[in-house]
Amino acid sequence: MPDTSKDMLWKGRDLPPLDLPIEGFIDAVSNIDSGHGKRVGILSGVIADLAGINSFDRAQLKLAGEMHDTGKVMIPSDILYAPRALTLEEKEVIKKHPLLGIAVIQYYRQHFSQDVLDAVLMHHERWDGNGYGLGLKGEQIPLMTRVISLADTIDACHSRRKYKAPWTTSFIRELLEQECGTNFDPDLARICIDNLETILGALETPATAAAPPIIVAKPGWENP
Ligand SMILES: [Fe+2]
Ligand SMILES: [Fe+2]
Repeated sequence: MPDTSKDMLWKGRDLPPLDLPIEGFIDAVSNIDSGHGKRVGILSGVIADLAGINSFDRAQLKLAGEMHDTGKVMIPSDILYAPRALTLEEKEVIKKHPLLGIAVIQYYRQHFSQDVLDAVLMHHERWDGNGYGLGLKGEQIPLMTRVISLADTIDACHSRRKYKAPWTTSFIRELLEQECGTNFDPDLARICIDNLETILGALETPATAAAPPIIVAKPGWENP
């Protein structure tokens, strides 16, 4: 039986050109999903500040947030931007993006710290060990990656995507409550729950503030 998920993954895909300037590579990755990486970089800094973490190099934290979904450059856009729920097979393709990200970012290895590589590879690990990537759990997952994982989910829920409307603040808070200590580091998740308005406020720009009211549609969150 043919490995269709492999076919789906590689069909028509090429690695980025070796001579793509590093600035262009960072820009391309951080703009996937309409600037999701850029926003995760911002939110990661806000969460780290709220948690009183001063051990992180803030520039590296921002960069790690921006680059966490590097592997999505290798996911076919008809899967990545599908305006519908994904099939099980397509979900398996999406789950390859942490490992693909590590493969892609090797091209630019000299520009990135271990913190960035950890975020690329481990941002879908879960506190309870049921995530994907390496199967890490709890404090085996680096603290910076645990911060980025929360920023990732908060932005994914808050954003409009082809398959979902933005969630309200109360729905995002409900999800964080449900996944506090299962998906997420419980201490960090509690800080996000208690400061969610502040965190989301960091995304407010004149453009987003003037946007039409949110249409609430809680179901459908699939793929941060
Ligand atoms: Fe991801
Ligand atoms: Fe993401």
